[in-house]
Amino acid sequence: MIRINEHYNQLKPSYLFSDIAKKVEAHQKAHPEVDIIRLGIGDVTQPLPPACVKAFHQGVEALADAASFRGYGPEKGYPFLRDKIAVNEYQSRGMDIDADEIFISDGSKCDTGNFQELFAPDIRVAIPDPVYPVYLDTNIMAGRAGDFDARRFSNIVYLDATRENDFIPQLPPGQVDLIYMCFPNNPTGTTITKSALRLWVEYAVENRALILFDAAYEAFIRDESLPRSIYEIDGAKEVAVEFRSFSKTAGFTGTRCAYTVVPKACKVYDKNGETTGLHGLWNRRQATKFNGVSYPVQRAAEAVYSPEGKVQVTALIDGYLENAAIIRSAMDLLGFDHVGGENSPYIWVDGQGRDSWSFFDLLLEQAGIVCTPGEGFGSCGQGYIRISAFNSRENVEKAMERMARALK
Ligand code: MLT
Repeated sequence: MIRINEHYNQLKPSYLFSDIAKKVEAHQKAHPEVDIIRLGIGDVTQPLPPACVKAFHQGVEALADAASFRGYGPEKGYPFLRDKIAVNEYQSRGMDIDADEIFISDGSKCDTGNFQELFAPDIRVAIPDPVYPVYLDTNIMAGRAGDFDARRFSNIVYLDATRENDFIPQLPPGQVDLIYMCFPNNPTGTTITKSALRLWVEYAVENRALILFDAAYEAFIRDESLPRSIYEIDGAKEVAVEFRSFSKTAGFTGTRCAYTVVPKACKVYDKNGETTGLHGLWNRRQATKFNGVSYPVQRAAEAVYSPEGKVQVTALIDGYLENAAIIRSAMDLLGFDHVGGENSPYIWVDGQGRDSWSFFDLLLEQAGIVCTPGEGFGSCGQGYIRISAFNSRENVEKAMERMARALK
């Protein structure tokens, strides 16, 4: 008898963004005249930077010619892209990350979801609340979460991010082995200072823990005092893996290209407490289960680091950050408390006593706006909604006018 992995039965029946998509689709069907504005899932709306488009075309042309054709690429990704990332993202900012420590992939969602496979089923996992649902769901699938008691899983150490701690979780009360962090944060849009991040690195060193640091939104950091990478903190190379993506940076959500840094110095332990290389484990996993990112897409990603590409990417992100500023001012005018949106594309809005799904429904039904209900990111998100700045200026302005009318 073929039996299922029973842990899948512990998941919510549907992924958050699938639930929202279904609700929006049903609303659109019932009200075809409404021009729905989507400020829900963090999906980019602006086209790829011209430098990337040009390189993408050239990559396709190379595949059309027998002399430059390529089949399977190198398992970690093409050196032309890994070298550019190492130099532009790390070495030029004083971080000692080598191109050989970088793994190109098709997304941080997959990499943050898959990484937990490398660890024992009975490790203690600390996960923020609210959180990007992938971290928790993949640990549930792996059977690490324990029992669900109507609100939370018994084996997960929840790191609450609430108004009381300015949405920056405190260190776990006891010992944990694996810690998920995301800054700039999804969903709250908050950022972490170097001194606060240092405490986490110190904690990981003391507890022989590993931090999985999701930096998918680092390109939105404009405040130079804030860390864009965990490797800005001394000692982090021994205790942290970093995930980054071209999705939100350069509009690659549909094109697919990301990367994960697994430093060779990063330590994990076997059952006898002997250190073993994390880099080699991830390499083995990826070589077995991952097929790589296509050559033209890696060429397009490389163009992010060309002189024109850098200017175009900065302009793209500036546009989204200006949208975020418009949303923040609108929330101020409407009298809603909010955080985020300054070095991040997400604004986390306190619904002032409204349940987050009711607030979601109200905005969809009364204003034709899609946001994300905070409760979908965890129990600490109840009462909040997340508004994304990923849309055109015109749509963001229109959405804020509609929201003001609907809430008057
Ligand atoms: C989000 O809206 O939280 C993200 O777009 C989801 C993702 O990147 O997978």
